[in-house]
Amino acid sequence: MPSQDQIREALRAVIDPELRDNIVELDMVRSIDVREDGSVAVMVSLTTPGCPIRNHFETGVRDAVAALEGVTRVEVSFDVLNETQKGALQRKLGRPGGLPEGALAQVANVLCVGSGKGGVGKSTLTVNLAAALAAEGKKVGVLDADVWGYSIPRMLGLGGDRPPVNARRKIVPLESNGIKVMSIGFFVQEDSAVVWRGPMLHKALTQFLEDVEWGELDHLLVDLPPGTGDVSMTLSQLLPDAKFLIVTTPQPTAQKVARRAAEMANKVDLEIAGVVENMSGFTTPAGERFQIFGEGGGQALADELDVPLIGKVPLTMPLREQADAGVPLVVTDPDDAAAVAIHQAARGIIAMTPQPLPVLAMSQVGGDLPTAPVPTSGTALPMAG
Ligand SMILES: Nc1ncnc2c1ncn2[C@@H]1O[C@H](COP(=O)(O)OP(=O)(O)OP(=O)(O)O)[C@@H](O)[C@H]1O
Ligand SMILES: [Mg+2]
Repeated sequence: MPSQDQIREALRAVIDPELRDNIVELDMVRSIDVREDGSVAVMVSLTTPGCPIRNHFETGVRDAVAALEGVTRVEVSFDVLNETQKGALQRKLGRPGGLPEGALAQVANVLCVGSGKGGVGKSTLTVNLAAALAAEGKKVGVLDADVWGYSIPRMLGLGGDRPPVNARRKIVPLESNGIKVMSIGFFVQEDSAVVWRGPMLHKALTQFLEDVEWGELDHLLVDLPPGTGDVSMTLSQLLPDAKFLIVTTPQPTAQKVARRAAEMANKVDLEIAGVVENMSGFTTPAGERFQIFGEGGGQALADELDVPLIGKVPLTMPLREQADAGVPLVVTDPDDAAAVAIHQAARGIIAMTPQPLPVLAMSQVGGDLPTAPVPTSGTALPMAG
């Protein structure tokens, strides 16, 4: 049967993905009980009660301890660090808050683009919004957090190249249309299925945020996978200041799913920046408009969440064609109805983003002055027409 010390040693394999050190080093192992029958009980202290990475710790501890000889059973339980202990931990880490420092220090705004379900146009909107923000003179990055169904490389025509590593051993994002891009798709064979186990997923996302040379960015857009799962949970932990943009389609059922995404955003405590309704009607070349997916879902959801509807993007063939061709539509055909709507939504995003103080703005973002105040809740912005 292993001794307490041996178990403690084994627990060094369990890493806190957010704090990037093992739970022993972080003084998060509260107690270890070894019983006669070979069962072991480990209590781990979490930094917050709703710690979304609880499962990660549970699996990690279980695997590490079960691998020791003589262990018949592993029980994992949790408690929460009190304020004094948290303070001690923060001093130990030498950082005041939970946000990863370093690479993201120069990223002003992070916007996660999500929805409750797949195929509503998250990735398409992410790349086109990014291109529209770039066209507005903003420094923009796109992080493809859809580690299972990554589509950003294809939509931005970035196939084949691997991102280089610079002298500071940071991964340099690839660039397309003035947008810095990072995706797991750059590192795996196309169409190969990537199997992600919990800890690996956390590690990959942490690396994307911290080991990538994002540099100075006004906006980092994060393309989330469909659903409300692990990725969003991890990201929200790593990026507590990130905001959420919910994409929905106009019909009521889609809205129900989008509401689930909103509930998740609330649960993980990310502020919802607004709603974009996609596939909102189809206009024929003759100007006739068809509400293929019904009407009003985006506005209804925005009202319910008390956030602005920042765009209604119609269905157009070129939007899909350009996604397939690898150049955003807002670049190739800014007059297309969908491109116009996306551009307006991008302006809405700029308008609702806190601007740097004028004095900083002069030196940092080429003289941008704060824009006029814009309602941040309840009402639709004027551009959402
Ligand atoms: N407004 C639109 N007009 C025409 N086609 C669109 C529009 N929005 C999205 N599409 C098309 O719909 C399909 C799904 O879009 P996309 O991949 O962006 O959705 P997604 O929400 O990211 O999907 P997933 O959940 O699988 O990541 C793509 O073929 C895309 O080109
Ligand atoms: Mg997608």
